[in-house]
Amino acid sequence: MTKPGTIFEAIGGFDSIDRLVTAFYKRVGKHPKLIPIFPDDLTETARKQRLFLTQFFGGPQLYNEDRGHPMLRRRHLPFVITPERRNAWLDCMSEALIEAEIEEPYRTAIFDKLSMTANHMMNTPE
Ligand code: HEM
Repeated sequence: MTKPGTIFEAIGGFDSIDRLVTAFYKRVGKHPKLIPIFPDDLTETARKQRLFLTQFFGGPQLYNEDRGHPMLRRRHLPFVITPERRNAWLDCMSEALIEAEIEEPYRTAIFDKLSMTANHMMNTPE
């Protein structure tokens, strides 16, 4: 079910999340600061991120159904996430939001919410 008044609905639902995630991992897979911690094949990573961002922005709770409680910080602990890697992740996301043609005010709203979560994922000082 797509609830009216959510960011998920306002940006155009699954198709837009799909474009965003595809544009994002295309960049992650080429980013020198991110390559060392991500798998070579990003298909499964992208699939999980599609489910997560769908529910994070107010769509159906697909991630919970597939993977259980997100516990995102805990799931990121095996990876060294420095401020530099956080910045790299957010740079990829910022460009992906433009490529996926997510328009304002949603582009900034999404980026701000993801920035807060990204700060929470850092687990190692530079
Ligand atoms: C701060 C920078 C971040 C880095 C460097 C990072 C890195 C990673 C890595 C290496 C993985 C594992 C990929 C795999 O094995 O398939 C992962 C998984 C994931 N990340 Fe991040 N991440 C960051 C921020 C975020 C943020 C801000 C979110 C959400 C808003 C997020 C959501 C996820 C999700 C949903 C998964 C899949 C978890 C699972 O079900 O296994 N990440 N991330």
